[in-house]
Amino acid sequence: MAPQKIIIDTDPGQDDAVAILLALASPEEIELLGITTVAGNVPLELTTKNARIVCELAGRRDIAIYSGCDRPLKRPLQTAEHVHGKSGLDGAELPDPTMPLQDTHAVDYIIHTLRREPPGTVTLCPLGPLTNIATALTRAPDIAGRIARIVLMGGAYFEVGNRTPTAEFNILTDPDAAKIVFGAAIDLTVMPLDVTHKALTSPERNAAFAAIGTPVGNAVAGWTGFFERYDITKYGSPGAPLHDPCVIAYLIRPELFSGRKVNVEIETESELCLGMTVADWWGVTDRTPNALFIGEVDAQGYFDLLTERLARL
Ligand code: BDR
Ligand code: CA
Repeated sequence: MAPQKIIIDTDPGQDDAVAILLALASPEEIELLGITTVAGNVPLELTTKNARIVCELAGRRDIAIYSGCDRPLKRPLQTAEHVHGKSGLDGAELPDPTMPLQDTHAVDYIIHTLRREPPGTVTLCPLGPLTNIATALTRAPDIAGRIARIVLMGGAYFEVGNRTPTAEFNILTDPDAAKIVFGAAIDLTVMPLDVTHKALTSPERNAAFAAIGTPVGNAVAGWTGFFERYDITKYGSPGAPLHDPCVIAYLIRPELFSGRKVNVEIETESELCLGMTVADWWGVTDRTPNALFIGEVDAQGYFDLLTERLARL
């Protein structure tokens, strides 16, 4: 089968960085057309810098990187340095990037690419707040029918929230954008906390990354070792969820995951529950299912895939 053409929309972030590396390490399954950056874990200037650092780490200065929206559609940006560190990529010492940044805005790039490629051939992989994707859909509604599918990390139902008691970070950061994306009648697969909280790092899994013995393996082990300190304290778990690579792993090995096609609506009004992904898991409404909401993963299979692929870089 021909590799799937994808655009990664991202706010690196250590787990975003691992997702980018997994995509770059998997050319049989994935053709990475470009990377678009968005403000999220840290401000846009840093997420864009970090995307370039990651591509250079992988020896891929040829990847086209486009900088996008610097704030949510309607609300102030709230970043997550307490999780990801001041740089967004704390945990590994890497040189400042020198590879070029494209002149085109990320939103224009997304629109242009979807209009250029044959309909139904480009998958969007958002790993951060959905501001770029929602802006593209609003500005160019014709692209909705041209997207093959969207596979994103965001939301939660049984795990409820990580940034507030009811909301996951990516959706909470720009709930208005999420509402647009979830309402766009696009083939949508969601990796919520329900599944990513089953994809936990551990001393053994981090050691397997380090044992790769390459700059990539060392950086990944450094990153996972850094950001897990926050979640280990918070959840009392032996490791931290490695969220974003679930999106790319799903494209490569969908059989590692399972979920349910359900209706998911985004709360944008309530002060208490802002950003909640209200998933009708039990089918108790007559609302139309709009997303494949993933709940289970073969965690060891996922980490084995990551270790095997990252060793190629
Ligand atoms: C999501 O938020 C960010 O901190 C991670 O990169 C991930 O995309 C998890 O809630
Ligand atoms: Ca992210």
